[in-house]
Amino acid sequence: MSAAADPVTLMKSMVGKAAADRVVSGSIVGLGTGSTTAYAIEYIGKRLASGEIKDVKGVPTSFQAEVLAKQYGIPLATLDDVDRIDVAIDGADEVDPNKNLIKGGGAAHTREKVVDALAEQFIVVVDSSKLVDQLGSTFLLPVEVLPMAKTPVMRAIEKLGGKPQLRMGVKKAGPVITDQGNFVIDVKFDAIDNPAELEKTLNNIPGVLENGLFVGVTDVVLIGEIKDGQPLVREM
Ligand code: 5RP
Repeated sequence: MSAAADPVTLMKSMVGKAAADRVVSGSIVGLGTGSTTAYAIEYIGKRLASGEIKDVKGVPTSFQAEVLAKQYGIPLATLDDVDRIDVAIDGADEVDPNKNLIKGGGAAHTREKVVDALAEQFIVVVDSSKLVDQLGSTFLLPVEVLPMAKTPVMRAIEKLGGKPQLRMGVKKAGPVITDQGNFVIDVKFDAIDNPAELEKTLNNIPGVLENGLFVGVTDVVLIGEIKDGQPLVREM
């Protein structure tokens, strides 16, 4: 973390470190995706390098997490190599008062859900801007879809009352391609009154791999915030 970090960067760094501090020796750790989790990966690597913890293995949720884990010296494992995940640390795009989430801002929600849902303890790391009263208020809901199914899936989503748009690349012509080679459709719903039901309904559309609603899987939410000018981390 740079000393002159802006407040959001500072919050992300502090909350990532707070999650990394909860990792104990011998753990198998799900490594999430995004700019906040990147700090957790960095600090886990630093704790390993200093000898403060040992025998930790990381299960990455994305290409990005894999690259960072290698950079910071965290030994990696796949789901075929391990019989459990002790703790997963991951970011979120929205968190509601019931600890339900919207994820997928980094188009990694399919692998994230596999790893995060398997974890004995799932810790979410966010800055305070991610807290919402109702999911869908600030962020479009990501849905990963097989490329050949994008049009029928978008039609089915419209029938459910959503406004779908294909996520386009930045510095890349054409759509975003996920780590699995698929597309992401971002959906605006006027209100997500029943996240559990919508999560299942969307996943039931043929061609949908996974959507970004994470319902009933979060154990702990760590929130980085600035209070009276001071950065702090609190648990929801
Ligand atoms: C990636 C995710 C991220 O965890 C989410 O987008 C939050 O990222 P950041 O910490 O950069 O705000 O779900 O698919």
